[in-house]
Amino acid sequence: METSESIRPDKAVETGTQTMEGSTATLGRVLGYQADKQGVLLYCEHGNIAVSSPVKELVRFTLFTGTHPELSTSVAVIEEFESRHFEVDEDADLNRLTVKWADVTAVVHLQDSTCEVVTHTGQRAVEGLQFYQTTEGNAGLSAAAHPQTHYYGLGEKTSFLDKRGESYTMWNSDVYAPHVPEIEALYVSIPFLIPFDQNQAYGLFLDNTGHSTFDMRQFEDAFEVRTKTGGVDVYVITGPLLKDVIRRYTALTGRMPVPPKWALGYHQSRYSYMSQDEVLELARTFRTKRIPLSAVYLDIHYMRDYRVFTFNGQRFPNPKAMMDELMEMGVRVVPIVDPGVKQDARYSIYRSGVEGNHFCRTLEGDIYIDDVWPGASAFPDFTDDRTAQWWSENQQFYTDLGVRGIWNDMNEPAVFNESKTMPGHIMHHNNGNPKTHEELHNVYGTLMSRATYKGLKDGLGGERPFVLTRSGYAGIQRYAAVWTGDNRSFWEHMAMAMPMVLNLGLSGVTFSGPDVGGFAHHASGELLARWTQMGAFFPFFRNHSALDTVRQEPWSFGEEIEGIVRRYIQLRYQFMPYLYSLFKEASETGVPVMRPLVLEYPDDVNTYNLSDEFLVGKDVLVAPVYRPDTRHRSVYLPKGIWVNYWTGKRYEGGQHVLAEAPLDTMPLYIRSGAVIPMDDANGTFDGALPAAFAEPSGLDQNTLLHVYLDNKSESALQAESDARMDDTVQDDVNRTTVFELYEDDGTTFAYQDGVYNQTAITVQDSAQEAVIKIEVQHQALSGNNGYPIVVTGCAATATVTWVANDKQGAVEQRVLERLSLEQLRQGTQGTAYNEDDKTLIIKLPAGHQHITVVVQKN
Ligand code: GLC
Repeated sequence: METSESIRPDKAVETGTQTMEGSTATLGRVLGYQADKQGVLLYCEHGNIAVSSPVKELVRFTLFTGTHPELSTSVAVIEEFESRHFEVDEDADLNRLTVKWADVTAVVHLQDSTCEVVTHTGQRAVEGLQFYQTTEGNAGLSAAAHPQTHYYGLGEKTSFLDKRGESYTMWNSDVYAPHVPEIEALYVSIPFLIPFDQNQAYGLFLDNTGHSTFDMRQFEDAFEVRTKTGGVDVYVITGPLLKDVIRRYTALTGRMPVPPKWALGYHQSRYSYMSQDEVLELARTFRTKRIPLSAVYLDIHYMRDYRVFTFNGQRFPNPKAMMDELMEMGVRVVPIVDPGVKQDARYSIYRSGVEGNHFCRTLEGDIYIDDVWPGASAFPDFTDDRTAQWWSENQQFYTDLGVRGIWNDMNEPAVFNESKTMPGHIMHHNNGNPKTHEELHNVYGTLMSRATYKGLKDGLGGERPFVLTRSGYAGIQRYAAVWTGDNRSFWEHMAMAMPMVLNLGLSGVTFSGPDVGGFAHHASGELLARWTQMGAFFPFFRNHSALDTVRQEPWSFGEEIEGIVRRYIQLRYQFMPYLYSLFKEASETGVPVMRPLVLEYPDDVNTYNLSDEFLVGKDVLVAPVYRPDTRHRSVYLPKGIWVNYWTGKRYEGGQHVLAEAPLDTMPLYIRSGAVIPMDDANGTFDGALPAAFAEPSGLDQNTLLHVYLDNKSESALQAESDARMDDTVQDDVNRTTVFELYEDDGTTFAYQDGVYNQTAITVQDSAQEAVIKIEVQHQALSGNNGYPIVVTGCAATATVTWVANDKQGAVEQRVLERLSLEQLRQGTQGTAYNEDDKTLIIKLPAGHQHITVVVQKN
């Protein structure tokens, strides 16, 4: 343990003087340049730079020595590069060179080789970009910033949303010590920074798979990036919107495929569920207690002495029967698989690894052996396609048993030695281009997950695989969801999970989340209740806890806590149609499911470092309580009108409100004007449980469209609004909202061949009436009988008419009959008013492709 001794005065090092090892030199003057296929090669006093734009809306800067650069990329980059037309123009007066593509321009100042990137509409992305080399052979860069520049991205990092004032290291690290703000490196490294200044953003992606540092602390007017190996290969991605930057970054590094729907459900884990009986009993308990559950995890004790691809026969005598029984219950099993393969001549995986030359070696040719859970172990060299294929093929052991998801852990790789990982001098074969581990360290986890994903896909006969990983590099989103490693049951860790996962989302990895309830240390009932409330709205939702900590299953703390936890897990399944549509959107655009407010409200300074509330999509605002004994919290509502999900009370945005939050309530708001497709978990029609609870595949028969209208006449809003009725709010009245509801079989890849449904729901809300349009845009699956609409924010006396104009010009128009709730449940169409929650329920005739509903509000 560290003591005060470590801060003895004679040990002090002045802060703010960190520089790169060795003496540093900028590249100096540009001595000459030459146009190349994709751009320009700059020959400078102390090194050379290739400036290219191999894809739209970005500029790539690659440092090189010699006459020509070697422009390869890491596993992160998937975009097809092309030769794009450009023009070079030297302006002798300004002493600068302009390299112009149709959509982006690079400007190079010849006297000092500093660069700029400008969009075709004249917005500046990076300014004062300057490259360095050191006498030690390291390289780096710095770029201009302003005191008001905010920094986002950088993947899985501690501290708050805005990374100004921080410095982080990219070096995948197994950190069991508490994750505190001064920890500079965790399990995932995504060298992608988003500077955001006066509403304008750009991205800077350093494609370097070794050790690098991003320093936003040392200078007010600049940030600096330093590398240890591999040099500088950096992409400047233009904005100006944050969403543009994310869209382009994820075009470059790929996007998450739509996950199987079960992976979006609630997952239960523990280090470890020790036997087949315990696992079955666990799942049955969830079912008898009516707590939804989609997956159970098997931690390292399921194996025979921690040998991957084995089951301990005493504890798990019949894993196949266990999985079949669980599958009957709608529960999937996700076993852990670590990279370390136990050194044991009698163990077939080790033998085939040695015989096939699949393990990492020293330069001299010895297999690298070191300790992890199984003791002395060897480590597959995933940099070689041949080895990745061997690993993929081995996944069949699991798929044959009925496994659809694998949990890849310890893949930094974590090693129980002094450096905590594989030594830098160990060699990777790297498909015939050998490199040291030091140069490739940060991709080990991604390459392992890629091999696992591929193996599962091959073995699942058309079903979508699920991989969960602890470690990863830029692009990991293409293969795996990320959980944020060994957090603790600390309130602080619950709070920190928000900015951490938000920044992962801004860095391309939307499918992520922490261990709910905390992994190490001991949860309390209150902590579990609050954390489950929050976790229900994170993209990845798994409760996991460590050996020797208090149990953390939903029922571990008595009935009150169990009731709260059940309610919020059910809420997760209730929001499933909304969430699933957002996952689809993220798979197409990269825009994350869980969003910091700044993403939707970039002109609102109150959002710039808002780290304790978040949006799910653009319409659901979540404000968790993350401190003990707290029954109120301040919530910032951005512009617009926000409806308290629990009470229906309306608030004008652009202000902080004090939310009441008794233990069973997490403050939750819906943007007025929004459509939220939800599962009919309340049994409005038939008392059914959420569809996903039973079997989260196929079309959800119980989807309701919740429409939140702005009811200006409502006294509650009047009370809230008083002096705050300003222009920004007026803008939001009469506005149109569109939500794209996406549905498919939830299980297979058939959606890629067009087997899905897509429905656009548009709401135009004005003082007197609301117009709700439901348009089928794509329909390949049948079975859904239309979506009942639940309207919040209109009077009990509201009248409803509908028009269908989908029959080749024929237009039908009807007034819907007002019925009792009971009659509506039985009937096929009509409206009813639900006094309990003050909603108007509308049931429309089925079978229309294009239907417009007009709600006369009063
Ligand atoms: C690591 C993982 C943790 C897991 C444990 C045992 O600490 O991060 O989730 O339970 O190993 O496998």
